Amino acid sequence: MTELIGEVAVITGAAQGIGAGCACAFLARGCDVLLADIKAEVVRDRAEALRKRFPRRKVLDYPLDARDQEACFAMADYARDELGSIDIMVNSAGIISPCSSLEVTQADWENLISINLSGVFYCCQAAARAMRDTGGAIINLSSIASKAAWPGRVSYAAAKAGITALTESLAVEWAKLGIRVNAVAPAWVNTEILRQGVKHGVVAVDNLNRAIPLGRVAEVDDVSETIVFLASDAARYITGQVIYVDGGYLAGAPHASIQ
Ligand SMILES: NC(=O)c1ccc[n+]([C@@H]2O[C@H](COP(=O)([O-])OP(=O)(O)OC[C@H]3O[C@@H](n4cnc5c(N)ncnc54)[C@H](O)[C@@H]3O)[C@@H](O)[C@H]2O)c1
Repeated sequence: MTELIGEVAVITGAAQGIGAGCACAFLARGCDVLLADIKAEVVRDRAEALRKRFPRRKVLDYPLDARDQEACFAMADYARDELGSIDIMVNSAGIISPCSSLEVTQADWENLISINLSGVFYCCQAAARAMRDTGGAIINLSSIASKAAWPGRVSYAAAKAGITALTESLAVEWAKLGIRVNAVAPAWVNTEILRQGVKHGVVAVDNLNRAIPLGRVAEVDDVSETIVFLASDAARYITGQVIYVDGGYLAGAPHASIQ
């Protein structure tokens, strides 16, 4: 198992889903962690449960609205003050809000972009200020939606494509600081986002399982293990990349649809 003993990981969107899975994966590798999320009570309960499970590690929770740049900076200051450094930053806070492109309001558009794109940038910025003397690894959550289009997801797709450009730009600019910046782009992961999609008839898991060459939607640890790898020294020469954790979906989609 990859070891990251004594490193500090800050994770947004950590109350649930992929962010919560990352918190667990980094704790299991010996990291101390700060879990940040807009759902203050849920993230507090999540941190409390993880403190019981990993009693030798430090586990902090932090109420964060990633749309607020100053709040992101304050979170990074708190992590440094309480945990000593930030070595790893995972940006998993995100929303999806399917809507016809003819009907999207300015408020809906700006809200999604401010969480899924601006918030990721502010947290990258906040983490990099803390990492500038020591180096570190930043991993952003993108999606196959950055490359493959579906009706009703224009703001989500635009934000995720923006994550690719943001990741590449920051990787190039911050390489001299020893900060690597990469993104992980899942297809469908068994989290609340997917469960809501199923509930509202936007997707059906049986159809997804048939369309994905590896035969199933991802579990959270399929994604968090890739994130751990990108954070680790094994990925020391990897920066500015988007890793598609999609069970072969993008490579195989044209074949899946004709069978
Ligand atoms: N689940 C999937 O199928 C899937 C696929 C591709 C990409 N992704 C991406 O992975 C990331 C995590 O998704 P997930 O499936 O774990 O979703 P999730 O809904 O389970 O978790 C997202 C978390 O982000 C938090 N959040 C929302 N707005 C916030 C804000 N303004 N500030 C701070 N926190 C905020 C939520 O409270 C929630 O805890 C997202 O960026 C998502 O777009 C997910």
